[in-house]
Order: sequence, then structure tokens, then C-alpha cells
Amino acid sequence: MSVVAVFGAYGHTARFVTAELLSRGHTPVLSGRDAAKLEFAAPPGVETRVATVDDPDSLDRALAGADVVINCAGPFAETAPALIEAALRAGIHYLDVTGETIVALDTFGTYGDDQRIKDAGIVVAPVMAFYGALGDLLATVAMGDWTTADDISIAVALDSWQPTRGTLLAGARRAGRRVVFRDRQLEVVPAEEPAPHASWTFGAPFGVQEVVGQFSTTDVITISRHLDTPQVNAYLNLTPLKDLSDPSPDGPQATDASGRSAQVFLVEVAVRRGDEERRASAQGQDIYAFTAPIVVEAVDRILSGRTRAGGVVTAGEIFDPEDFLRALPFDNLSLS
Ligand SMILES: NC(=O)c1ccc[n+]([C@@H]2O[C@H](COP(=O)([O-])OP(=O)(O)OC[C@H]3O[C@@H](n4cnc5c(N)ncnc54)[C@H](OP(=O)(O)O)[C@@H]3O)[C@@H](O)[C@H]2O)c1
Repeated sequence: MSVVAVFGAYGHTARFVTAELLSRGHTPVLSGRDAAKLEFAAPPGVETRVATVDDPDSLDRALAGADVVINCAGPFAETAPALIEAALRAGIHYLDVTGETIVALDTFGTYGDDQRIKDAGIVVAPVMAFYGALGDLLATVAMGDWTTADDISIAVALDSWQPTRGTLLAGARRAGRRVVFRDRQLEVVPAEEPAPHASWTFGAPFGVQEVVGQFSTTDVITISRHLDTPQVNAYLNLTPLKDLSDPSPDGPQATDASGRSAQVFLVEVAVRRGDEERRASAQGQDIYAFTAPIVVEAVDRILSGRTRAGGVVTAGEIFDPEDFLRALPFDNLSLS
């Protein structure tokens, strides 16, 4: 199997990623900036390497011998450029789990046409996580044989959201700004402009929910990169927003042996062309834990050549979307 460097390895999401790598027979090599936290988080027998983003030599040592690096250290504005450059020096694939729209925009903008990535034959796949990959894959399946859609909507329902420190820091950096895609343009809407509200009829167990529009999810960026539509709408139900505005200092609470919280998610995507609508949806447990099978499934497919694109890519671009989704441990998956 493969050697996979995990940066930011003692974070909440990274621990699920490491466990997933081990369960699939990979050899994770854990790195992060704090030696003590790194040692404490490492499962028995797993190698650790201290590294910081402002010391390129330490990053080179952290990635030495690895086939791929997964960057889990967020907020990502500080970490993504340094790790992508280190992956380029090492000639290995780079994946991250950022949920930050503005960072994702910067990564695709800065590296999208980077000749070094093409020459190295590596994949740079930011946003290979619950937000950013799942909606993109569902939308790509829903499009099916359509080459264009009048609009694509993604609606996310969560029954709760106890955020991690990384999520809260990322939210503070976003400061209410929202990335939207309309009239075929990605634009950043300032915090002062109020977000629209609407209602969305979800499947069970959520039903009709009041939702906030212009939800600044990275799916808006990934979907609009490769599916032909003038508009992507993104909605989130209001329940989790209350948790985000009054978060528990303890973060997500484990409710099973794997460390997953009880959080339930449902992601629905609707693509519309004239009077026709096609839908796809996926339901599961714990958006942080669920990021691990997404990013590790991506690693497996990239390393075994089960890809249909290279360079700087989204999940929907690079993978067979239906096959990828069917490999994930959802409680319910509807690809009608
Ligand atoms: N797109 C998605 O669906 C999705 C899913 C899961 C997570 N995420 C995002 O991924 C990020 C991490 O999430 P998490 O849940 O794992 O948060 P977390 O538990 O707070 O972990 C964050 C990790 O990043 C490290 N880190 C932060 N800044 C760093 C820097 N400049 N240099 C080195 N390490 C740094 C932290 O180390 P220190 O303790 O040393 O600061 C910690 O290990 C968050 O931004 C979160 O929003 C997105």
C-alpha cells in the first residue's frame, strides 16, 4: 500500500483521516507544528514528523518518501500554498479538506493553470471533503447526460453542528462574506448584504425546513468549475446556524467507538432544465468523520489511476461520480 503524509495530523478531522488510512492498509506519516500534540495523537507505531509552514525544509522532511499528502490543517489560507509548493517539490499528489470558499477560489485561481503541476503529472485536489466534494459529485450524477442546466441547487440539512476550533477560526476569517455563482460569475458578496431566506422540502428525517440562501459552501466553486450552468444556489437549514453562533467549547462529542458524533446530515441537489428537474441526495452521520472516507477514497483512486482528469481538479471532474458515491458509507443514497 502507499505512504500518505497527513499534515495538521492532530486535528479533529485528521484523526478520522488517519484511522481511515490505517483501516485501508496505507502507511500514514503524521506531521504538524506541535511535537507534543503530534506524539499524543499518533496511534501506536505511526511515524510523526514535526513541520511548520514557514520552514520549507521541515515540510520537505515531512513529505519525504510519501506518495501523496493530505492537508488537514485549517484555516487553510496559512497552510495550503506552503503545502502545495512542498508537494510540487516532492513530486507528489496534494489533497486538502478546506471548507473555505475564498481559499478554494485562491487555490484554483493560483494553481489552476500551473505548468509545473501538469509537467509533474500530479493531482492537486483541494476541497476533497464533505463540503466541496459531496455536492459536486451529486450534481455531476444528477446532470447525467445533460450538457447544460438552467440552474443547480444544493441544499444541506444538519440536525446540529458542534463546530471544531478550525471551523470557528475559518468562519471568523470569512467574516460573513459569501461566495456566490450567478450570471456565470463567481463573486464575493459582502457581509453587509443580507442573505436571502427560503424554505426547502427535504426528504426524511428533515421535511420542510427554513433555509438560508447564499450559503457559502465550497460546492459553489467546485460545481461551477466544470458543470455548465449560469447559476448555483446553495442553502443550509437554520438549525445548525444556532449552534454555530453559540458553540460548545468542547466541539463535536463522540457517540460511538469510532469517535463519530450523532450529527445527521442530508445533502440534496436539484438540477433544472426548463420544466425538467433531476435530483440526487445523500444522508449520513457526522460531517467531520465523513470527510475521512471521502478524502481517502480519493487518494485510493488517484494512486490506482481510477481518474478521468489530472492537474487541479474537483471530485466531480476527476472521478466517476456515481461509482465514487456508491463506495461511501452513507445511510441513504438516492441517485434517481
Ligand atoms: N470541507 C469540509 O467539509 C470540511 C470537513 C472537515 C474539516 N474542514 C476544515 O478543516 C479544517 C480543520 O478542521 P478540524 O475539524 O480538524 O479542526 P481542528 O480540530 O481545529 O484542527 C485544526 C488543525 O489544523 C492545525 N493548524 C491550524 N493552523 C495551522 C498552521 N498555520 N500550521 C500548522 N497547523 C495548523 C491545528 O494545529 P494547532 O493546534 O497547532 O493550531 C490543528 O491540528 C477546518 O478549517 C475545517 O473547517 C472542512
